[in-house]
Amino acid sequence: MKRRTLLSSAATAAVAVPLLAACGPDQAPPAPAATTAPAAPLGLTFPAGFVWGAATSAYQIEGAAAVDGRGPSIWDTFSHQSGTIVDGSNGDVACDHYHRFAEDIQIMKDLGIQSYRFSISWPRILPTGRGQVNQKGLDFYKALIDGLHQAGIEPLATLFHWDLPQPLQDAGGWENRDCASWFADYAAIAFQHLGAQVPTWLTINEPKTIVQVGYTYGSMAPGKRDARAAAVASHHLALAHGLAVAAYRASGATGKIGPALNLAPAYPAESGADAAATLADGVENRLYLDPILRGSYPDDAPTFLGAGPWAALSGVIRDGDLAIIGAPIDVLGVNYYNPVFISKSGGYVTLKPTSIATWEQIWPDGFTDILGRLTRDYTKVPLVVTENGIPNAGSVKPIDGVVDDPERIDYLRDHLAAAYSAIQNGANLKGYHVWSLLDNFEWAQGYTQRWGIVHVDFDTQQRTPKASAHWYRDVIARNGA
Ligand code: FCB
Repeated sequence: MKRRTLLSSAATAAVAVPLLAACGPDQAPPAPAATTAPAAPLGLTFPAGFVWGAATSAYQIEGAAAVDGRGPSIWDTFSHQSGTIVDGSNGDVACDHYHRFAEDIQIMKDLGIQSYRFSISWPRILPTGRGQVNQKGLDFYKALIDGLHQAGIEPLATLFHWDLPQPLQDAGGWENRDCASWFADYAAIAFQHLGAQVPTWLTINEPKTIVQVGYTYGSMAPGKRDARAAAVASHHLALAHGLAVAAYRASGATGKIGPALNLAPAYPAESGADAAATLADGVENRLYLDPILRGSYPDDAPTFLGAGPWAALSGVIRDGDLAIIGAPIDVLGVNYYNPVFISKSGGYVTLKPTSIATWEQIWPDGFTDILGRLTRDYTKVPLVVTENGIPNAGSVKPIDGVVDDPERIDYLRDHLAAAYSAIQNGANLKGYHVWSLLDNFEWAQGYTQRWGIVHVDFDTQQRTPKASAHWYRDVIARNGA
């Protein structure tokens, strides 16, 4: 099942818990003693200097939605509309990280985490998306970044993790070419005030999810169902990325910048499905990789996008756009969760076990394949895994201070082994960030999926590192799985 299919159906989201059935609401979670077996080290030592991190994003954790001058984003609007979020929740409070960031930094320090990937909330810095800068918003990120440095943790900042300022949506959002320039202006402000303290920047998180789930299927903000609008948005997101890279170069900063792409290797599900899998690879991967890393759209884009959407996309390309989009980057962020398997007719088929996020087929070989392919076929720049992980059910709670999550340990260990294989085979992989540091607001799934290595009690805001957090601390300490 594709993520978009799941997300478009609140009913489906609540079912299918094969992997975590023991943690479902009707059954007691397994006893804490079960933690030890899956944690046994595999004996895989990663290259010296490999960076171990954890990731979050602003709307999913910060809360403080109307505090200190933050303006509304499309996610505030969307989550407050009835029927959009499976449990009727929103990110108004979330993990209250805005007020508790010092505690969260301390948790990371205790775990030995070396790099923290967070995102900057555009409407906290620019409450209406452009124009007046909100000093209190900047102060928050300055304090966060200072705190990270003091704890010996490297900040990895994402400029845009989906929380577009609502006034910009009202002005057309990503369908409006100007949105790319507004993004570059915001990026320039972020670089000016925070650039010296942040060694690595990510431009846009998962343009594919915005295009597919936000614009084609409408189950995430801004909730459009229009394949042509999606195609136009896709080009403008790519342009926004390119303009932000240009702004970074112009700022004189000397760090690294690149995008964070969610990539899903596509395989034929049956004999005779190779051509269909190649088209799906276009939809899943090449539509985003090719313009950024080759400065061109794939030749078969009219086929895999469809004539109408391709006409819409190609109609908004202006001279010089692809040179901007394809300008050199310094790092490529890779979010990997799952492969896709494609039938002869182009359908998406579930062949592997899934997590409770039923779009997430668990198949670590896909991770090895995509990492190897990136270095081999696309770019020699360093790859950094910017997200990888698995959820527990929303009902999971600490028992005697312990949250036992062996399925997450299995998933992470197997994916680290897959990443290790990719490195052995030549992938230029330099770091890894688990998704996520904290249980958080999982978009249209609300609080029904807990993706953190640290449990958050959303009533008390108490944080409890799960068994996987302790396991990850040991992975970091021995630099290996
Ligand atoms: C990714 C998103 C991230 C989180 C994980 C589970 O697509 O970037 O915010 O929702 O999925």
